[in-house]
Amino acid sequence: MSARRPLISGNWKMHLNHFEALQVVQKLSYLLAPDDLEDVDVSVHPPFTDLRTVQTAVETDRMPFAVGAQNCHWEDSGAFTGEVSPAMLAKLNIAYVIVGHSERRELFGETDEDVNGKVLAVHRHAMTPILCVGETLAEREAGTTETKVVRQVHAGLAGLSPEQVAGMVVAYEPIWAIGTGRTATPADAQAVCALVRATVGEVAGADAAVSVRVQYGGSVKAGNIAALMAEPDVDGALVGGASLDPEEFARIVRYRSEPAAS
Ligand code: PGA
Repeated sequence: MSARRPLISGNWKMHLNHFEALQVVQKLSYLLAPDDLEDVDVSVHPPFTDLRTVQTAVETDRMPFAVGAQNCHWEDSGAFTGEVSPAMLAKLNIAYVIVGHSERRELFGETDEDVNGKVLAVHRHAMTPILCVGETLAEREAGTTETKVVRQVHAGLAGLSPEQVAGMVVAYEPIWAIGTGRTATPADAQAVCALVRATVGEVAGADAAVSVRVQYGGSVKAGNIAALMAEPDVDGALVGGASLDPEEFARIVRYRSEPAAS
């Protein structure tokens, strides 16, 4: 078993208003026993309008989850109508910020340079970025998965110290597997997660490569998580749709007791 502590993250995307988010996080806390969380970290990433509510509930009831955000701006303040500053997130005790999700890159035009600016900004405020990388179906079929992922990792980590990289999370999310019900096979997920780790080694050295946590994301469910987590370079999962259902997400967090068949 790897020495890295697994991280299971629920990305709620643009779902759940703050009342609904509160119910989901309370249910999750009720479903998970302290034992279930002994060897795994869990983060939940509600929409911005829910963050204060969820953070207050998590802190007041001492729920064993980290609260995360789904995005932030690269500047701390300024004339950026509609954007959210990393400094504001840090003030809410946000632990993790998802950066460069494929939906941000593909639908909102985020470039590798924007993503790097956000990674640097998240570090500046002592939070942990979850840097997302991954290929489209066309890129996979054209055989350019490796080139793209290596480029995204290099660009995303530019300007960071080896120590900063060591504490980070990189999520490998094949775009064709997100929200489609198609999951990468454990072997394919392993191959690209190993490539991510090797690329981190090139950028930031061997110690950072050993420490960085690499998640897989894309149609993760209770039925396929165990087989993915059995791979040596898969250190966790970034879960979208299945994280909206607290029963299903709790089973994903308890992947060790789920059957490994996918
Ligand atoms: P999915 O989303 O689990 O619904 O495929 C994953 C993600 O976009 O992070």
